[in-house]
Amino acid sequence: MNQIIRFHATGGPEVLQLEQSDPGQPGAGEVLLRHTAIGVNFIDTYHRSGLYPLTLPSGLGTEAAGVVEAVGEGVSHVAVGDRVAYAGGAQGAYSQQRVMNAAPLVRLPDDVSDEPAACVMLQGMTVEYLIRRTFAVQPGQTVLWHAAAGGVGQIAVQWLKSLGVHVIGTVGNADKAAIAHRLGCKHVINYREEDVVARVNEITDGKGVPVVYDSVGKDTFNISLDCLAPRGMFVSFGNASGAVPPFAPLLLAQKGSLFFTRPKLGDYVASRSELEASAAALFERIGAGAVKVQPSARYALADAARAHADLEARQTTGSIILLP
Ligand SMILES: NC(=O)c1ccc[n+]([C@@H]2O[C@H](COP(=O)([O-])OP(=O)(O)OC[C@H]3O[C@@H](n4cnc5c(N)ncnc54)[C@H](OP(=O)(O)O)[C@@H]3O)[C@@H](O)[C@H]2O)c1
Repeated sequence: MNQIIRFHATGGPEVLQLEQSDPGQPGAGEVLLRHTAIGVNFIDTYHRSGLYPLTLPSGLGTEAAGVVEAVGEGVSHVAVGDRVAYAGGAQGAYSQQRVMNAAPLVRLPDDVSDEPAACVMLQGMTVEYLIRRTFAVQPGQTVLWHAAAGGVGQIAVQWLKSLGVHVIGTVGNADKAAIAHRLGCKHVINYREEDVVARVNEITDGKGVPVVYDSVGKDTFNISLDCLAPRGMFVSFGNASGAVPPFAPLLLAQKGSLFFTRPKLGDYVASRSELEASAAALFERIGAGAVKVQPSARYALADAARAHADLEARQTTGSIILLP
């Protein structure tokens, strides 16, 4: 029988339950997929906790790699037997098999195997749009990236370095600092011990950075504001420490005519052409050897709750996956 993770009430990791379910057969526009590796992302914890509300009971997860087992009417961009991966669509990736809308699927190149694919689709396409389209970072610029040793962070550091960008990465402990250095951060700041604003000022000769990528949210909001150069861009793309509270637009004027944006992946891969271009850019960086990704931890599907607990306790580095 097909195993899936579902939850019937929001709460801590313990609400995630292993259940049995018949995936059924694909209807028009759908495929039946057999998953081989499933991505675990911080956003899954927001859905589980209720920060991002879902109708319950619900499956969980929007990223995986696998093989197409059957296709419904009208599906032409993938075929039975194709190796594919996706980031997006309905919840339900935490499963051995599922029927899903075919729209988010992309075929995997031969040089990208299933486990790395399940690590990079969501986090890697996020990096793609953040550094090329939300703010087009230029070679020689210095940028600030919080949680640089995390899943998104590790991909970002490698990609930016390959473009000749100087990355100041923040991390929560010494082991993560070593990882961030090894992957290419020019400067690493342990934000639990050091004064980030003072260090960024020192590194940039008091000028500040043109862009801050902040996925930590509540705890780093004021710090990020004070690290920006006049007319800099605040890219607030996550809430690992909690959501940023409301603030007055006047604050952006007081801090130097700053720009503020709160982007999300779905809006940057909304059309088939954008999705394919984003995935192609990511696969190009992987193929060139500029971005290397392997899961830092693998959990059985049945241990999804433990994966969530580790992620929320800041125990993980890089990307983590579930094996169905
Ligand atoms: N907007 C989008 O399109 C989009 C897409 C993908 C991901 N995201 C966001 O990007 C962020 C990173 O996602 P990820 O899946 O790669 O996770 P991750 O970075 O592997 O894990 C989150 C990291 O945030 C840091 N953190 C700081 N304060 C924390 C706190 N109070 N609780 C927990 N973690 C804290 C921790 O690193 P340190 O210990 O080093 O501080 C932790 O390892 C998340 O906020 C996620 O929601 C946004």
